[in-house]
Amino acid sequence: MSENEEKKVEKRKKIKITPIKHGTVIDHIRKGQAMKVLKILGLIERDIDFIVSIAMNVDSSEGKKDIVKVEDMELKNEELDKISLVSPEATVNIIRDYEVVDKHRVKLPDVVKGILRCRNQNCISNQDEPVKPEFEVVGKQPVTLKCNYCEREMKGEEISENVI
Ligand code: CTP
Ligand code: ZN
Repeated sequence: MSENEEKKVEKRKKIKITPIKHGTVIDHIRKGQAMKVLKILGLIERDIDFIVSIAMNVDSSEGKKDIVKVEDMELKNEELDKISLVSPEATVNIIRDYEVVDKHRVKLPDVVKGILRCRNQNCISNQDEPVKPEFEVVGKQPVTLKCNYCEREMKGEEISENVI
């Protein structure tokens, strides 16, 4: 590749990951999980008035990753930590005036309420009862959840497939 062509490629790569001025960048999301992250954060099917950008399948030092950037919003850790269910390695970067002022990894909660459905069709949380799904986190690697009603366990794909 000529020097000129290399420069063009470099420029294209940079455009894909435009820095933001203010907001939250969720980085190191597992490849293919960006939409689940949006779902977990309640950014789908909601009337939002801030900019959300998504990058999927981006190169990273550990292979491929997804990135979600939410501009002008500093999301709450309580909400962000739920991302650990589908992407335990994700990092949250708070951006102020183009600078990363805080960076931390999402933290696995002890209890998960409401954002997943139980994979057991017969579970009471899947019937027409006013019972919200609730799980206890019983394992970290891999993330393993146990339903508080029927005790059925879920891990890996089962978890991401059951995000409500
Ligand atoms: N970022 C952004 N806007 C900024 C600053 C950073 O969108 N003004 C994004 C970067 O594109 C990156 C993430 O925020 O996806 C973290 O930025 P930074 O800490 O600068 O990157 P790295 O050092 O590569 O982060 P890490 O070590 O966590 O991989
Ligand atoms: Zn259940």
